[in-house]
Amino acid sequence: MSAPSVITIDGPAGAGKSTLGELLARRLGYLFFDTGVMYRALAWAVLRSAIDPENSEAVAALARDLDIQVLPPGDATDGRPYTVLVDGVDVTWELRRPDVERIVSIAARHPAARAIMRERQRAIGRRGQVVMVGRDIGSIVMPDAPLKIYLDASIDERARRRTLEIQQRGGSADLQHIRNDIIRRDSLDRHVSAPAADACVIFSDGLSPEQVVDLVIAHIDDGDGLQDSHAYDRAQNPGSAGT
Ligand code: DC
Repeated sequence: MSAPSVITIDGPAGAGKSTLGELLARRLGYLFFDTGVMYRALAWAVLRSAIDPENSEAVAALARDLDIQVLPPGDATDGRPYTVLVDGVDVTWELRRPDVERIVSIAARHPAARAIMRERQRAIGRRGQVVMVGRDIGSIVMPDAPLKIYLDASIDERARRRTLEIQQRGGSADLQHIRNDIIRRDSLDRHVSAPAADACVIFSDGLSPEQVVDLVIAHIDDGDGLQDSHAYDRAQNPGSAGT
């Protein structure tokens, strides 16, 4: 089977979406597009302009005028998967700053700002040969995408991975603090985080990034091996009358 032209990967913070997206895109020769960086860029601009991240009109106006470019890493030797320019300024690493992290879910919550971001994401998705990573890509941004993955993992596993990731970048990270932050972000992001009805679900506890990629590639080749999201909904909410 030939690879689907658009693959979406959604799921909660720290589930390993970006790692899977990067590896998958590399294997398929596709563009890797992490839509979270657009919301992070917006949050960075909110801080730069000193506007209130809760102010939906001000955040939407900012989003409308913001020039966000996500480019290949080029000659950069600092391990970046891409370069992000906001109004021409290289903010690639600044988007990982704790102050950006603190407000990004708030800045990303406003429907008008989201509509602007989604339209820009769609324009990139429509070009095809792309792996798009986010929260609402399969459900809302690209609902016709031929392959939708929903990647999940337990809170403990996600906290452990995030801690390791920060430490590997030379930062200091406290596991309990990161765990609490993941719980906080889960509740803030919940409004956009439901899996698409036809998403394939991967629960990645105990799986290495390569094993997850192999699962997806096997699914592309054979068309099986992954759980459908209805089964997942029922597993997560055993009391619900899911169909
Ligand atoms: O995946 P991430 O941690 O880089 O995402 C940053 C924030 O943006 C997070 O609060 C969720 C939000 N986000 C979103 O609302 N919709 C997306 N498609 C991607 C990210």
